[in-house]
Amino acid sequence: MTIRYDGKVAIVTGAGQGLGRSHAIELAKRGAKVVINDLGGSKDGTGGSSEAAQSVVAEIEAMGGEAIANGANVANYDEVEAMVKQTMDKWGRVDILVNNAGILRDKSFAKGSLEDFKLVLDVHLMGTVNCTKACWDIMREQAYGRIVVTTSSSGLYGNFGQSNYGSAKMAVIGLMNTLAQEGAKYDIKINALAPTAGTRMTEGLIPEKAFDLLTPETVTPAVLFLVSEDAPTRTILGAGAGSFAVAKIVETAGMWLKPEDQTPEGIAANWDSISSPEGEKVLNAGFEQTVRMLALASEGLGIKLD
Ligand code: NAI
Repeated sequence: MTIRYDGKVAIVTGAGQGLGRSHAIELAKRGAKVVINDLGGSKDGTGGSSEAAQSVVAEIEAMGGEAIANGANVANYDEVEAMVKQTMDKWGRVDILVNNAGILRDKSFAKGSLEDFKLVLDVHLMGTVNCTKACWDIMREQAYGRIVVTTSSSGLYGNFGQSNYGSAKMAVIGLMNTLAQEGAKYDIKINALAPTAGTRMTEGLIPEKAFDLLTPETVTPAVLFLVSEDAPTRTILGAGAGSFAVAKIVETAGMWLKPEDQTPEGIAANWDSISSPEGEKVLNAGFEQTVRMLALASEGLGIKLD
């Protein structure tokens, strides 16, 4: 069955080019009305122009789709609120939010400034928080919402020179984990995309042949799946060059140590068992960790907990 978005309203941030542009165009092709948000700045977040967003609107209109341009800086809550108001005035609802806007300020941790660190957090983390917050009550009232946050392998696994960016990209996973729980009752699903694509962000970092394979269009199906009616929730979906994979945070089965071994030396002596991947599991909520720890302890102590 073809997945479509007829009657749905989507906001895609940073949609003037690169991945966001591709997501927005495909959503529009499949029936969504789309807000093309873009500040139009350079890769490091300086400058700004409304041209990029407007040209994507023109592309969508030329295909017979519906779109409007918006130049809000996602890091500025007042501008984000105005963007959501513009959307509500025009179309009366927000079904889909794709948090995609982003910048880079790469430097080793030793050389990087705290100003750059805060700016990157502001755009990626607070930009995602601002847009999500401005849509949250609308989605709750509609009892429908599909939200994507854009993470990165840099956040999930680390990347030299990207401590600021990696921190921000992992932070949005934390946001997702809690909002998936808080939104469940209102049919709000929230997922994370971990893309790898040839865009101006990665130009010069990837060999040309690989760059040509890593088109934004090969990533977009992942986003479209994650914002569809039957989407999963709280999933991290990696995508690039037409390949797709799910990333998971797991906890090992772990073990309880006897009181006399509850020391750093005891942990060192049992490290192989504590860190063994055998029996590792994805936990669905923070409290599950406490339950598991207590279960191991009560078993070890031979006591029953209610
Ligand atoms: P891009 O630089 O081509 O596009 C990002 C867009 O966001 C630009 O059009 C820019 O004007 C806009 N933007 C930046 N700051 C903004 C702000 N404060 N408010 C509104 N718009 C703003 O980058 P690309 O590669 O398309 O990246 C899209 C997203 O995917 C980003 O969040 C990026 O961190 C993420 N990502 C990209 C990867 C890649 O391989 N290209 C890898 C992992 C994550």
